[in-house]
Order: sequence, then structure tokens, then C-alpha cells
Amino acid sequence: MSARILVAYATRNGSTAEIAQSIGRELTNTGHAVDVTEIKTVSTLTGYTAIVIGGPLYMGSIDGTVGKFVGNYREQLLKLPVAAFGVGLAPKNPDPGAVEAAMAALRKSLGPVTPVSSILFAGKLDPAKVNFVMRKFLEMAKIPAGDFRDWGAIAAWARELPVKMGFSLPPKD
Ligand SMILES: Cc1cc2nc3c(=O)[nH]c(=O)nc-3n(C[C@H](O)[C@H](O)[C@H](O)COP(=O)(O)O)c2cc1C
Repeated sequence: MSARILVAYATRNGSTAEIAQSIGRELTNTGHAVDVTEIKTVSTLTGYTAIVIGGPLYMGSIDGTVGKFVGNYREQLLKLPVAAFGVGLAPKNPDPGAVEAAMAALRKSLGPVTPVSSILFAGKLDPAKVNFVMRKFLEMAKIPAGDFRDWGAIAAWARELPVKMGFSLPPKD
């Protein structure tokens, strides 16, 4: 059975949007119907058989539009297979526990929804876009600047999702 999958993402500076588009392309390549939509513009989940939710970390939390979306569509999300990804610089933070804290923030943003798969991807930070106060925060949090997105890891995760969500691959001709 093929799925109709919504990839709903939050973003502030565009890097999570590009990751969501890449996940959407991989899912399409596996033979499923996919829409990739910014989470704050989603107006219905009707017709979707699975949802991928993604959002970036800012100051220790996943962007708040993810939590709002989960609150708005709680009942439907509890009945559908959901996969979730967080995007941040925590994977590049040398502190032990940074990734664990980021994963905890992702779980928190999903509230009662238990994903079939969840993952944290390294993101992108453009130092030119960060003001003085933010720069100080980032220094203290040991968050480096740069583009650390691993497109191979992103594609590999996306390719495994349909099976984890309970949809077998359509027959190849
Ligand atoms: C002000 C600021 C705060 C951030 N806080 C965190 C954080 O707490 N944890 C983390 O892992 N990454 C943090 N990041 C890194 C972002 O999550 C990363 O740049 C991400 O790719 C941004 O996604 P976007 O371009 O979709 O908005 C922060 C970045 C900025 C600019």
C-alpha cells in the first residue's frame, strides 16, 4: 500500500526547510505521494496517512510552531504514524549530553505523540545572521558556525520511513 505523507516543517532561517524538501524528495522516490509544507500553514491533515514533523532548535527548544501544530492536530496525530526530526548544532557541541538534551526537547515538542522514528540532524548556522547578543549565547553554548547538514544521513533516514510507518514499497515495474 502506498502512503500519502505530509512533511510539515518549522524554520526560521531556511536550513530546516531545505532538509524537509530533501526528505520529501526521498519519500517521493520511494513511490509515495508527498506534500512538503511549512507547519504554520497546514490547515488540514485529512487525506494524509502519515506525517513527518521537523523543526529547528533555538535556545534549547524546538521552534514553538511545532508544539502548536501538535496541539491543534493532537487527536489525528495520535492515530497516524508520525516520524520526527530536530535540526540543531547540538551534534557539533563537544559537551556530553548536548544531543540527549536536544532529543529531549524534540520529544517535549511532540507532547503525547510517540514517533515511529525520531532523529536529530546537524543544521546550518550563518554567523552573518547572528547579532551580538546571540553570538555571546552561541559562544557560551559552544555552538559553532557553519553548514553541517549531512545530506546522505538525511536521505538514508527518509528512505527507511515508509517501512517504519507500516507502508511497504510499491512494486517496481
Ligand atoms: C540564536 C540561535 C540559537 C540556537 N540555539 C540552538 C540550541 O539551543 N541547540 C541547538 O542544537 N542548535 C541551536 N541553534 C542552531 C540552529 O538550530 C541551527 O542553525 C538550525 O539549522 C536553524 O534552522 P533554520 O535555518 O531552519 O531556522 C541556534 C541558532 C541560533 C541562531
